[in-house]
Amino acid sequence: MDLDALRIDVDRLVGRLDALGEIGAVHGPNGERGCARLALTDADRDGRDLVVGWMHDLGLDVHVDAIGNVVGVRAGDDPTLAPVMTGSHIDTVRTGGRFDGNLGVLGGLEVVETLERHGVRTRRPIAVAFFTDEEGARFQPDMLGSLVYVGGMSLEEALDVRAADDGARLGDELARIGYAGPVPCPAASAPHAFVELHIEQGPVLEDEGVTIGVVTGVQGISWTELTITGQSAHAGTTPMRLRRDPGYVAAEITAGVRAIARQMAGTQVATVGRLEYVPNLVNVVPSRVTMTVDLRNTDEHLLQQAEHRFASLCERLAADEGVTIERRTLARFEPVEFDARMIDRVEATAQRLGHSTMRMPSGAGHDAQMLARVCPTSMIFVPSANGLSHNIAEHTDTADLQAGADVLLQVLLALANEG
Ligand code: GLV
Ligand code: MN
Ligand code: MN
Repeated sequence: MDLDALRIDVDRLVGRLDALGEIGAVHGPNGERGCARLALTDADRDGRDLVVGWMHDLGLDVHVDAIGNVVGVRAGDDPTLAPVMTGSHIDTVRTGGRFDGNLGVLGGLEVVETLERHGVRTRRPIAVAFFTDEEGARFQPDMLGSLVYVGGMSLEEALDVRAADDGARLGDELARIGYAGPVPCPAASAPHAFVELHIEQGPVLEDEGVTIGVVTGVQGISWTELTITGQSAHAGTTPMRLRRDPGYVAAEITAGVRAIARQMAGTQVATVGRLEYVPNLVNVVPSRVTMTVDLRNTDEHLLQQAEHRFASLCERLAADEGVTIERRTLARFEPVEFDARMIDRVEATAQRLGHSTMRMPSGAGHDAQMLARVCPTSMIFVPSANGLSHNIAEHTDTADLQAGADVLLQVLLALANEG
């Protein structure tokens, strides 16, 4: 048959996205259909069970490794050749959508089902993976499962990570949900190549009217948790000049990192996403605030510059207000550039299929940036409606899902048939 003419069945793909999205479903007041499946919760287990069931239905050989990464392998004709891998994650943030990560995993299964239905064999095996705790919303750092998979963090250290919400130990949660698997991690060998289909999660493709984002790399990520400790006191009796108020310092840091990003302009971004006051009462100067700062830049030197300015800001505020500020690094990944030939391949394939394309860096972190350490890697982006992600209103149009998954199919086919 003419392999170039092979296309995925988008209704089947949307059916799986909808079914997985029902697990941990969050319904918004305006018809939004989002998802809350934080890593290693009961909802994550139920999602995993559903996807593993589909992998078995498709005849894949399913492996679960010691950090809970799941890889389903479709055999190739030459068992001596390394597999071509695709995949992503199925954990979500608490206010997530149905596409982030899930599209990459279910797009991979859709490719496999398309090949099965058309009786298409490949020389190399095709592996579809989902990696543990990509989001980093519950356990930091983000991309933890793929980081351990490529040997970037030891298994022992990863199993000992504590949850930001309830303090649970990652290894205990993994065992509790039944996904502490027998396969050793890091993986014994690298795939031939890795390609990840993902939603853009930002507004650029939609704004430019382009269907396929050809991803050139991922920007650097720096996550810090701050614990600011001052003096709890009575809100009515303590004169302003005698306060040591961590709440005020937290507000200055929030405004300060935004000012740093604004002054640096370019691609620098800065976010305070979590902030907790203790004791959080109307008439009490807080004793302690914990908060997080997320800094990102596509340029490592500029990211370091932002980090230095942020550190100086903290030191100055601590001295001025008489509080202590403890800084703990939660995640730090340098910017990643994808393989030039893999980028070209995604671009050429998308164009051959008649889709408009543009090259772009990824603003979000992805498992692909970890796989890039061990094999040629690239990513395919499809548009996010209104640029929204990590939001229950996240949506990608069906025509764009079809386009992205077709590009994935054709890129995987070509890679899986090369020697
Ligand atoms: C993780 O996926 C992130 O980009 O925050
Ligand atoms: Mn994602
Ligand atoms: Mn995400």
